[in-house]
Amino acid sequence: MKVNGVITRTIWPADDGRAVEIIDQTALPHAYRVLRLRGLDQVAQAIRGMRVRGAPLIGVTAAYGVALALSARADDASLAGAIATLAATRPTAVNLQWALARMQAALAPLPPALRAEAAWREAARIADEDVEQCRLIGQHGLSLFRELAGDSGRLRLMTHCNAGWLATVDHGTALAPVYAAFDAGLDVHVWVSETRPRNQGLLTAWEFRQHGVPHALIADNAAGLLLARGACQAVIVGADRIAANGDVANKIGTYLKALAASAAKVPFYVAAPRSTIDFACASGAAIPIEERDADELRVVHGADAAGCVGELRQVPLDVAVANPAFDVTPAALISGLITERGVCSASREGLLSLFPEMRDG
Ligand code: MRU
Repeated sequence: MKVNGVITRTIWPADDGRAVEIIDQTALPHAYRVLRLRGLDQVAQAIRGMRVRGAPLIGVTAAYGVALALSARADDASLAGAIATLAATRPTAVNLQWALARMQAALAPLPPALRAEAAWREAARIADEDVEQCRLIGQHGLSLFRELAGDSGRLRLMTHCNAGWLATVDHGTALAPVYAAFDAGLDVHVWVSETRPRNQGLLTAWEFRQHGVPHALIADNAAGLLLARGACQAVIVGADRIAANGDVANKIGTYLKALAASAAKVPFYVAAPRSTIDFACASGAAIPIEERDADELRVVHGADAAGCVGELRQVPLDVAVANPAFDVTPAALISGLITERGVCSASREGLLSLFPEMRDG
């Protein structure tokens, strides 16, 4: 996708081959800043601090983190240490464990002298595959959206959090079909929910402004009204983990939207690549839910009248705060899962129809 007209990914190896560069998502939407990560610890901090975020991008970043660690030291202890450090950064998005398992499988059998170069190659492969998978999700979602839009070509959508290209390497998951529909000339408009407390909806609005997709930012609490009023033909969101039965963990607030969509009889779609599906996880009840720092609720970030970016404490320190970062939407509320292999029902059979190789896995 493009930033100020220039084609950009969210992560790439630095020219000197000793670092990776990322778009610092904590600076957006007020500033566009590229950050250089020079070693394992900086990568782990960037993931934990959500400078990079979104399930697929977390996985790819972790893969590059392993490459950086092995560039410094490539023995077994370094490989195991890097994987353990990165695995502990964020618990819910299974793409992280998926990417680390893939790095482990590719690198552990190699002699240490060959590992660093192989790690850079494998991380780049994971990144490129993510781009292609997201592109395909866009095409499958587009077919669905064409049906929904019908002859009028009018498409009123709602999304939550940011499952756009910033959350992946490129294209996005939930937003890939939106971009594909817009590029195909459909009359698209998207309700973008703010997504308290981290406000990832602002990232979605920033992406849409870059691409020219018509949208309006709404408070999370406005979603029910808009759905009940018929202001929206479908809701589409991403996922951090899809359990084997089709239950979906995604950003906190997703479940409320699914309930409201179900009550209003509006289809609710989830878009995600294979790396987000956890066939080892029987149902949503087994998905670990990340609890994040209370300051994410207590402190708001923004620009003042002079455009200076800063933070304000909006909640006194002695107010008790809970901050679960994800929720689980039961499969029964989901109209379909959009993957790189096509669209299926949110169910074990649906998932296995697209990924038959997992039947005995
Ligand atoms: O906490 P975040 O911002 O990493 O959470 C992101 C989400 O919940 C996204 O919807 C999900 O990762 C899908 S991203 C393509």
